Amino acid sequence: MQKLAFIGFGVVGQGLAEILLKKKKELKANFGYEFSVVAVSDFNKGSALKQDGLDLSTLLELAGDNKISEYPGAEAGLNALETIRKSNADVVVEVSYTNIETGEPAHSHFKAALEAGKHLVTTNKGPTALFLRDLVALAAKNGVQLRYEGTVVAGTPVLNLNDLCLAGNEVTEIRGILNGTTNFILTNMEKGRSYENVLKEAQELGYAEAKPDADVEGWDALAKVMILAKSVMRADISVEDVDRTGITGIKLEDIEAAKKEGKRYKLIGKVTREGGGVRASVRPEKVDLTDPLASVGGATNALTFVTDLLGEVTIVGPGAGRVETGFSLLADLLTIHRTQ
Ligand SMILES: NC(=O)c1ccc[n+]([C@@H]2O[C@H](COP(=O)([O-])OP(=O)(O)OC[C@H]3O[C@@H](n4cnc5c(N)ncnc54)[C@H](OP(=O)(O)O)[C@@H]3O)[C@@H](O)[C@H]2O)c1
Repeated sequence: MQKLAFIGFGVVGQGLAEILLKKKKELKANFGYEFSVVAVSDFNKGSALKQDGLDLSTLLELAGDNKISEYPGAEAGLNALETIRKSNADVVVEVSYTNIETGEPAHSHFKAALEAGKHLVTTNKGPTALFLRDLVALAAKNGVQLRYEGTVVAGTPVLNLNDLCLAGNEVTEIRGILNGTTNFILTNMEKGRSYENVLKEAQELGYAEAKPDADVEGWDALAKVMILAKSVMRADISVEDVDRTGITGIKLEDIEAAKKEGKRYKLIGKVTREGGGVRASVRPEKVDLTDPLASVGGATNALTFVTDLLGEVTIVGPGAGRVETGFSLLADLLTIHRTQ
């Protein structure tokens, strides 16, 4: 029985909770996987700790009203760190807020979980991009796993694809569409619509934030490039090492000119092995229409691995979403279950 503690219980946390509820029987029948949620701590929604397990349906209902602390018979009032240290969970599910500048407060949650000898599964890009190497070492020192499939392209299995299916290949380059909002904007600008007009629609659809800089200036893609560089290429790079340009400088005329050349603008995140190190970038690139990445439109993401044994392998799939990102955590939980 895997005992889980959720740190953060927003869109993704609740997405995983819904999957666990819905698939409880199949997970047990097909994989022998059983779980118990022993704690939840969320900034505004409240906290609850019950070492012998909380009922997920009740938790989801209470979360809707920001009343998790009113869970009957549970200990309330514990913050994230107290919850990690006090609960008897063997896996911490860290799905709080992402901060790409300092990684906090999630970085402290990560360290507390690993130091307490608990496995950690997360979709949180900040600490993963900034501190992956140290965190992997800390996990190894404490004999636990750190799994972070959902930090890059949500539940679309890019990290597991690399670690499991491509093992034995040398990956010389990874390049892809790592941000759905900017791909949605560029795809629609090709139809002749202005940047401002499409951005407004992306905001109305919930793809883009009111302050869209993290997406349109390439910061979100940069975090994913750093995770890919560190995880797939084992490179030690920092934010300053990534050559970053967003899409705000792309004009309709540029898109038209690219079309005439038989090309299409995409915001490409790229890591290329070079000498002993890597070169990493996020920038708008004119992609040939024959490139598989060119046909990936809307908010969809895609990643091409350039390998020595297989040539190019491209995976296409969702890069965000409640269930899609919740699934990445389920994949990580099942991996821990299978390998313990
Ligand atoms: N949504 C996606 O499609 C997606 C895809 C890939 C990765 N991610 C990443 O997954 C993580 C979760 O995303 P989300 O969409 O679920 O975000 P969200 O809906 O904003 O949920 C995050 C939750 O964490 C809570 N929180 C923030 N700081 C906390 C702290 N110190 N202690 C306890 N709880 C805290 C927030 O509380 P309050 O809001 O109640 O204050 C919120 O409920 C983020 O790091 C995000 O970047 C999301």
